[in-house]
Formats: sequence, structure tokens, C-alpha cells
Amino acid sequence: MKTALITGISGQDGSYLAELLLAKGYQVHGLIRRSSTFNTSRIQHLYQDPHTPNPRLSLTYGDLTDEGAVIRLVERIQPDEIYNLAAQSHVRVSFDSPGYTADVTARGTLNLLECIRHSGKRTRFYQASSSEMFGLVQETPQRETTPFYPRSPYAVSKMFAHWMTVNYREAYDIFACSGILFNHESPRRGETFVTRKITRAAARIKLGLEDVLYLGNLDARRDWGFAGDYVEAMWMMLQQDAPDDYVVATGETHTVRDFLDVTFDHLGLDWRKHVKIDPRYFRPTEVDLLLGDSTRAREKLGWAPRVRFQELAKMMADADLAAESRICKSEGRI
Ligand code: NAP
Ligand code: GDD
Repeated sequence: MKTALITGISGQDGSYLAELLLAKGYQVHGLIRRSSTFNTSRIQHLYQDPHTPNPRLSLTYGDLTDEGAVIRLVERIQPDEIYNLAAQSHVRVSFDSPGYTADVTARGTLNLLECIRHSGKRTRFYQASSSEMFGLVQETPQRETTPFYPRSPYAVSKMFAHWMTVNYREAYDIFACSGILFNHESPRRGETFVTRKITRAAARIKLGLEDVLYLGNLDARRDWGFAGDYVEAMWMMLQQDAPDDYVVATGETHTVRDFLDVTFDHLGLDWRKHVKIDPRYFRPTEVDLLLGDSTRAREKLGWAPRVRFQELAKMMADADLAAESRICKSEGRI
């Protein structure tokens, strides 16, 4: 049985990846942060029942910035594969907390690479790199060879982690892959990212729970895919004969406005009656356009996205409508 460590297991991608690896028979270890409220809701269903934890899923408290804790965990579990998904992952927040973002997203990655370098075990490493590294894009579509031009402390931190991953592969012969993933969403997406913010607000407007949705730049274009499809690419990268870096994307780009159109239409609403622009949501430096070319992943990994843009937006809107309706019913409001 293979053993995997997932940092960021409580996040969107971590939860889908844990599902995938458990289904493949892995022993899965996750690093979770202590928080004043429960932060394991996305992986709760992976326990057989709330009182009997799944014997193949084990969670350990720790922070990626705590080098000693990370070293002890890796030494104890001796993983065959490490998936580094933990990060301060919000681009807007990274302008407010650049130092913290660098500590976790950049330096935290180095902590893991150092563990592998010193462990003597041939642990395979996946780094969650980002299309944000392309930033002020130097060519379209963006591919593995496109020069980076990061536009936020988050993107600069991800670039550090990306190049450390490449450097440790070349310098120490570590099986380390960097997945340059374009935006991917799901009903488990964090509520402050634009897609989920839109689908959740549309559901609440539909139910009469709120009326106004405040947003920033509606002209930004993103290549949006489904998180469930993207974690398969992560796993595939670590099953190859040789490590490499891969762009993972759908090859379609849409504006935030397009996402509003599909979501609100689907729920029988007109977003123009509800959306107001709030400058607080603009970024000091914006990434205007992302569009990925995932030819390498398609040809070498045999990976392809299954869920397209419209289906994704509708899936998220339906899930939010169902969740908000359940809350209303439990509170006796409908
Ligand atoms: P997410 O939902 O924000 O999850 C981030 C995870 O990192 C959470 O489990 C979080 O724990 C954990 N974390 C944050 N700081 C930590 C720390 N100091 N120590 C340990 N754990 C920490 O992000 P996601 O959407 O799943 O993305 C997964 C990874 O892929 C991230 O590295 C992200 O930057 C990268 N990425 C995402 C996308 C995308 O479109 N989703 C695209 C490209 C790259 P809590 O639950 O306690 O907050
Ligand atoms: N979050 C947010 N909130 N974004 C808004 C809003 C708003 O109210 N209004 C407009 N936007 C615009 C942002 O300015 C940005 O251009 C776009 O919507 C997408 O924003 P996010 O959903 O926050 O995602 P992101 O593209 O900045 O970053 C995500 O994708 C990256 C991959 O390209 C994150 O998941 C990163 O962790 C990931 O690396």
C-alpha cells in the first residue's frame, strides 16, 4: 500500500485529492492547522462515521511554517508521495499579508523539499504551482515555456516555490513535479473566490435572503475548470517514469461577467439588478487574462478536463441553492 502526505488536505483540492487517493487504496496522511472553529468540513465525509475514523486517513496538527513539526511528520510516516497543496492561496489577501504569504507559500515549500533531500527515501513530490505566475502574460495561450511575470505577493511566492522544486529536481535528483494549474472551482471552493462568491450570492438572492452582491473587476478573464478533474492530473504526474512540469487548463477563457450570466440565468435571475461594484475588491495589480495550453498534460499524461465552463457554473449554483435551502428549512424559514 502506498503512503501519501497531503498538506492543505482541509482545502478544496486537498479534499478531492484525499478522496481520489483513498479510492486508489493509499494510506493518506494530512497536515491540518489548529483553528478556533472546525476546519475539516470538506473531509468529514471521508471518515466512516464521526466517531470511527477511517483507518486509512490520518490527520496531524501542524503548520507548514513549523519546520520541526514538518520534519517529524515526514520522518514518522515515510511517505512515497507528498502533495504540497497548503498555501495562503488568496491573491487579494496576499497584498495585505505579503510576509505571511511568503512564509507559507514560498518558504513552507522549501521546508518540505529539505525534508525529502535529507530523508534518503525516494519520496515523490508534487508542488501546487499556479497560472498566477504568468501574471502580466507574455504570450497567449500560456504553456510551460511561457516566461513568468508575477503580479502579486502570492504569485511571487509561488514562483519561488516553483523554481525551488525545479532546482531540487536538478540538483539532488528528487522526483519533483510542478503542476501549473489554472483556476479550478467546485461546490467546495472557498467562499471568497469570485466563482463561489457569485454562486452562493445568487442562491441567496433566489431565496430572498439577500439582494445585493458586491464585486470588483468584472472584465478579468480566467480559464476555469473543475477541481475534481485537476486533482487527477496531480496524481498522474507522480506516476510517470520521469518528473516534469505541466500546465493544467481547459483551453477556454471567460470573463467574470460571463460567469455571472450563466449562474444568474440558470437560477432565473438578472444579475444587473443585484451586482454593485465595490473598489475594495480591485487589486493593486490585476491579472487581466489567463488561458492555458495543456498539450503536454494531454499528450504525456493522457489527461483531459471533463467538466466545461457552463456545466461548472450550473453545478456550483445548484449546490449552493440546495445548501442554502437546507439551512432555510432547518431554521423553519421555508
Ligand atoms: P484552499 O482551499 O485555500 O486550501 C488551502 C489549504 O492550505 C487549506 O487546507 C489550508 O488550511 C492550508 N493552509 C494554509 N496555510 C497553511 C499553513 N500555514 N500550514 C498548513 N496548512 C495551511 O486552496 P485550493 O483551492 O484547494 O488550492 C490548493 C493549492 O493549489 C494551493 O496551494 C493554491 O495556492 C494552489 N492553486 C490553486 C488553484 C485554484 O484555482 N484552486 C490554482 C492554482 C494553484 P485551512 O483549511 O486551515 O485554511
Ligand atoms: N475574489 C474576488 N472577489 N475576485 C473578484 C471579485 C471579488 O469580489 N470581483 C472580481 N474579481 C476578479 C479578481 O479581480 C480576479 O481577476 C478574478 O475575479 C478571479 O479572482 P479569484 O476568484 O479570487 O481567483 P484568482 O484568479 O485571483 O486566484 C485563484 O486562481 C489562481 C490560479 O490562477 C486562486 O485560487 C489562486 O490560489 C490560484 O493560484
